[in-house]
Amino acid sequence: MTPYEKLLSDNKAWANNQLQTNPDFFNRLSSIQTPDFLWIGCSDSRVPADKITGTQPGEIFVHRNIANMVVHTDVNLLSVLDFAVNHLNVKHVIVCGHYGCGGVKAAMSSRDFKPVLNMWLRNIKDVYHIYRDALDKIENEEERTDRLVELNVIEQVTHLAQTSIIQRAWQKNNGPYLHGWVYGLKDGLIKPLLDMPPGSYIDPLYTYEDL
Ligand code: CO
Repeated sequence: MTPYEKLLSDNKAWANNQLQTNPDFFNRLSSIQTPDFLWIGCSDSRVPADKITGTQPGEIFVHRNIANMVVHTDVNLLSVLDFAVNHLNVKHVIVCGHYGCGGVKAAMSSRDFKPVLNMWLRNIKDVYHIYRDALDKIENEEERTDRLVELNVIEQVTHLAQTSIIQRAWQKNNGPYLHGWVYGLKDGLIKPLLDMPPGSYIDPLYTYEDL
């Protein structure tokens, strides 16, 4: 059996197992999804949103990209956010980074990753630039990376609040709550970094009138 064929056979075993535990499992899920959470995480294969939070299919709506970025020109991210907030009515949006993030490490190096990756990593370099004084003082490279991971999460949550999608939802529905978390690859634990409840302060430069 080739590795990809194993995925298909494991899928059959999983589906069977689900049915044995709960015969109604797929009937219920195929008609409706009502997740309370939107997860914006890193694509890293070691940080699967549902596994590390113990959530089941139907409970968490997921968007993942390199280094869990919220880029205001990213049509993919914004479409997911719009759908999750305005159609699924999620109550919480979580940005979850992780220590030892390869994307963050890459952005801290001077290596040329060629056009497309350079373009993406540039967004992380810009976060470093904001906190340059504090980060440059951390001599240990692993510690400096992990601090940038945390600051990057905080920055991405701020970016969420700066979208008209979130500002409109806060005004009309008094939700969702925004959260910034960081996951530890070494201990499997999630550390909460910040919460932004509806109505939190947003730099007036980024606020919209007549939403
Ligand atoms: Co990562």
